[in-house]
Amino acid sequence: MRKNCRIIRAAVIGAGAIGEAHIRGFQSHPSARVVAIAETNAERARVACEKYGVPEAVSDYHELLKRTDIDAVSIALPNYLHAPVALDALSARKHVVLDKPFATCARDATRVVELARRQKVVFMVGQNQRFPPERQKLKQLVETGRLGEIYHAEAFWLRRSGIPRIGSWFTQKKFAGGGCGYDIGVHILDLCLHLLGDFDAAAVSGQTFSKFGPRGLGDGRWGRSEIDPRAPFDVEDFAVALIKMRSGRTIVLRASWAAHMSVNNLDNIILYGTEASATVKPPQLIQPGRSDYRIVEIKAGRPMVNPERMAHFVDCILGRAEPYVKPEESLQVQRILDALYRSSETGREVRLKADE
Ligand SMILES: NC(=O)c1ccc[n+]([C@@H]2O[C@H](COP(=O)([O-])OP(=O)(O)OC[C@H]3O[C@@H](n4cnc5c(N)ncnc54)[C@H](O)[C@@H]3O)[C@@H](O)[C@H]2O)c1
Repeated sequence: MRKNCRIIRAAVIGAGAIGEAHIRGFQSHPSARVVAIAETNAERARVACEKYGVPEAVSDYHELLKRTDIDAVSIALPNYLHAPVALDALSARKHVVLDKPFATCARDATRVVELARRQKVVFMVGQNQRFPPERQKLKQLVETGRLGEIYHAEAFWLRRSGIPRIGSWFTQKKFAGGGCGYDIGVHILDLCLHLLGDFDAAAVSGQTFSKFGPRGLGDGRWGRSEIDPRAPFDVEDFAVALIKMRSGRTIVLRASWAAHMSVNNLDNIILYGTEASATVKPPQLIQPGRSDYRIVEIKAGRPMVNPERMAHFVDCILGRAEPYVKPEESLQVQRILDALYRSSETGREVRLKADE
């Protein structure tokens, strides 16, 4: 049989801290090449091109979207640009992978999902936390019923001093849309719903706090975004929510960029099932034995999809895999986070419509 030797030609839009990871991800796939970068910071673009052997950089991403020799783009831009740039790229019929969070509101995310469907291209939010092989294995164990009925889950990602740079776009609502909820809450919520195989939330009651950033405390020094020392810190640095799923199960979500804690970082998901519980960190099942509880380590095994998200995205374009992160799932995650913010603003539980 003739081997499929098509090469996917990709462009990366935004060559900041995570854009470089996108480039490396594409380069890990034998059938992908990064042929161009779009980056407004000329020096950053030059350095990335040199470091990764990318032949070309432009400052205006529209130039790349016009090119017929580019099949796919990845978007690694500040949050407020995710949806608009994804819409432009989809209009140009490029396959699109977008870093998290999907968008800064569910209305924009809906437009992206609808356009991706109409254009019949691959669209995926690159939720990398789903991909490690032992998490893929845990997902399989849940699907085969090892935990029984999962009635409750706790999902948390808490940092002691992890604001991704006070004064950067991350801490300004007009650029980021939200704070730790959109930044790390989105990761742990997405992974939790994915493991449960349930994205159908009925109601969200949430609260956000901003207790450290406005005092100049809790800086995590992430990445290399530009800093404006006069910029307002107007996003949250702690968020909590009770999410009631239509199935009846409940989820407690917590995210913090800054908090008084005995450790620097604490993130985990605990799934409570009628036959066993499970944790993501370490990956294990906790189940009753004959006389006591048994802890069963979850071994990775052969992953269902390539653990490198960009390589998986390339596999999807080549027709060798189905997107491991479905657009409709990412839309539901966006709706839940938006409901958390709305609930915090209004002081009321927010109910989500079934057919939304
Ligand atoms: N998946 C993950 O684990 C993970 C980790 C960190 C960040 N992220 C996400 O990745 C995105 C980028 O974060 P980052 O830390 O790399 O930020 P960053 O500030 O380091 O990088 C953003 C880059 O975009 C460039 N840029 C801004 N506007 C542009 C435009 N119109 N055209 C071209 N380039 C433009 C900036 O010059 C900058 O280099 C964010 O949405 C963030 O949430 C994901």
